[in-house]
Amino acid sequence: MQTVSVSASKSYDVLIGKGVRTLLAEKLNALFPGAKAMIVSDSHVAPLHLDALEQMLDTFGIRHAQYVFPAGESSKAPQVLFDLLETLAAQRFSRKDVLVALGGGVTGDLSGLAAALYMRGMHLVQMPTTLLSMVDSSVGGKTAVNLKHGKNLAGVFNQPELVLCDPDYLETLPASDFADGMAEVLKYGVIADEALFEQCKTGNVENDLETIITRCVSIKRDVVAEDEFDTGKRALLNFGHTLAHAIEAQSDYAFSHGKAVAVGMARIAALAEENGFCTRPCHARIAAALENNGLPTDCAFSNRELFAHITADKKCAGGKITLILPDRIGSCYTETIAIDKLRELLT
Ligand code: GLY
Repeated sequence: MQTVSVSASKSYDVLIGKGVRTLLAEKLNALFPGAKAMIVSDSHVAPLHLDALEQMLDTFGIRHAQYVFPAGESSKAPQVLFDLLETLAAQRFSRKDVLVALGGGVTGDLSGLAAALYMRGMHLVQMPTTLLSMVDSSVGGKTAVNLKHGKNLAGVFNQPELVLCDPDYLETLPASDFADGMAEVLKYGVIADEALFEQCKTGNVENDLETIITRCVSIKRDVVAEDEFDTGKRALLNFGHTLAHAIEAQSDYAFSHGKAVAVGMARIAALAEENGFCTRPCHARIAAALENNGLPTDCAFSNRELFAHITADKKCAGGKITLILPDRIGSCYTETIAIDKLRELLT
């Protein structure tokens, strides 16, 4: 088992390793003695993994309840958030109790926001079950729901008190969802670690998952320690994401986040190369690695179609937008440019 300790407005451990899910009850007793646990999960994950957790909590005498919502991005919505909050209130949860997010990014983001809002803050444990949530969304404290006008527009920073990352959960993950996670893994390679990129570029990663997840979480830990509230360096974690969010919105969320990030990274790398923003070419290497990992490198939406969504992105303010550009594989930088300039570059 690997431990990555995060130091932010809250300090907490991310435990990574096969079987760490079996530590949940012991950890809850140690961190929050006497607390009741609300396990939040979706309709795909709950039938696979919820029973085993509840049995473990029963064995340790930990009181618990469950909140299961329909799987999918459409549940990352204010209505579901408020239904969860009402459920916590109806079941007399207190701020000393703990919310356990068992699932992927939607579950983690929704639960993290609910835990921050309920009675102005209850305890939070993240138990990611997808590769994408293990390497990205369960760590670092970003929580949100989507609004009609865009993705992640209502949220807060709320760090968890513990993250349990168990690669055994990935055995039940569909291949397409695993590929989504690999988009974020390759992102870490491009922004910070050429060796990680090389390790993952062929798509043969099954035997190295614990080390790969640990490396990604460590990179994220370092970025979050420096810029928890996303005022500078943390933007690097959004490499490929500006176009990705636009692709997701344009497709009405039919495009998964990971696949949209893959296309976003390929397109921004191509744009950077064509316009002399990189010191070393990187588009072909990124595109090959994406393909080897079962990910797309392009989509049917033109940059012109995506532009309207880009102007609604959080990174766009005062007529300017901050782009994350690759200098070479293993190093990216941010560049703030006028929106009109971006329109010119994209169309
Ligand atoms: N997923 C990007 C971040 O946590 O900043």
